[in-house]
Amino acid sequence: MNILILGSGAREHSIAWAVKQNPKCSRLLVAPGNAGIADIAEISNTNIENCDEVVALAKREKIDFVIIGPEAPLAAGVSDVLKHNGFLVFGPTQAAANLEVSKSFMKEICTSANIPTAKYAKFNELGSAREYVEEQGAPIVIKADWLAAGKGVTVAMDLPTAYQALEDIFKSGSQNLETKVVIEEFMEGEEASFFVLCNGQKLLPIGTAQDHKRVGDGDTGPNTGGMGAYSPAPVLTGKIQDTVIREIIKPTLREMERRGAPYQGVLYAGLMIKDEKARLVEYNARFGDPECQPLMMRLGAQVLDLLIATSNGDLDECQISWADDHALCVVMASIGYPGKIKKGTIIKGVKNLSSSSSQMCFHAGTKKEANNLVANSGRVLSFTARGETLAEAQSVAYKMAKSIDWKEGFYRTDIGWRALL
Ligand code: AMP
Ligand code: GLY
Repeated sequence: MNILILGSGAREHSIAWAVKQNPKCSRLLVAPGNAGIADIAEISNTNIENCDEVVALAKREKIDFVIIGPEAPLAAGVSDVLKHNGFLVFGPTQAAANLEVSKSFMKEICTSANIPTAKYAKFNELGSAREYVEEQGAPIVIKADWLAAGKGVTVAMDLPTAYQALEDIFKSGSQNLETKVVIEEFMEGEEASFFVLCNGQKLLPIGTAQDHKRVGDGDTGPNTGGMGAYSPAPVLTGKIQDTVIREIIKPTLREMERRGAPYQGVLYAGLMIKDEKARLVEYNARFGDPECQPLMMRLGAQVLDLLIATSNGDLDECQISWADDHALCVVMASIGYPGKIKKGTIIKGVKNLSSSSSQMCFHAGTKKEANNLVANSGRVLSFTARGETLAEAQSVAYKMAKSIDWKEGFYRTDIGWRALL
């Protein structure tokens, strides 16, 4: 099969790495990719948010299967247009991806399907939003109702922070949307991610993970896209997973189908767990980054069969074989991330790392410049390792991170702390 993966992060590198090991993959093309992906696949410099360009690429290269990694092409309708042109695609339509793109849509689905989640209200006008916040008090959660790459959410522990977040949202007023802000009750608990392959009402859970969203050790500092992750997440016990499928995932899939927007792809449920009960924080219409990296390491080559079965609607014939092990990923980012960073700094030592089914250095923002590997964005490398225990996986991932010579880079030193307590 000729396979095309869209994306350029460590998530897509890990998917490419897993897919490449499957004998069904005869040719692998990634757009736009990065320096690490270029070592294992052909690269195309296509604009992946432009439907026509992606379709032209898929036709030109005689692609049999397209895997969409990030949310932006889903939001742009790339999956719809590829499907209209007869391609087999992994990834939801624009209407179904709305579960991630629009917080108000997601909350509406939760209300219609009676899904346990935080109480909320939505506003398109600053005055009434402020009044509601004043009435509810802090802590409270303020969410811009558009795709903001993880930066549109403020968990406000006091009222001035909440008012500031509202003002910032209403100031960025170029968005001509019906709802501008979703305001939610603050939920306490431990967060974990649950990944389920779905097609219509068919589903197959493929694992749990825990992300580390804050930039600093001890979960301090601003939110990022994720500084590290591990899988499985012990807080999401088998019993809780069963309840989540029954009370959250299945009702969502039914409601999406009822609305004429059946969901096909991976549904990533961000959950808040307290007293053995889970409530939905958010949905994403794709794999998480960095959660994907440990998942791919644990699943390996079978990933391709699972993704094809998802797209074909054959999920009920699928079986997953799990190694009874753990995987952990440490993200190395450019100093300054999630704020301003310097591009073009030289990274040494990546070539010396060994690559195997138990340890991989997945690339995100990397580029080759005059024979050097240089940093090209905020998150740059994802050191991912497997072990019989989580502590073992953690030790190998950090050994990789420590061997890198890159003064302008940093990583958290406590990935996995909750599970290792
Ligand atoms: P979201 O983009 O909706 O996942 O929000 C980003 C992060 O904000 C989540 O991963 C949580 O850590 C936090 N968050 C979002 N909504 C809530 C909530 N209602 N209560 C507590 N924390 C929240
Ligand atoms: N790591 C969080 C996300 O991918 O949304």
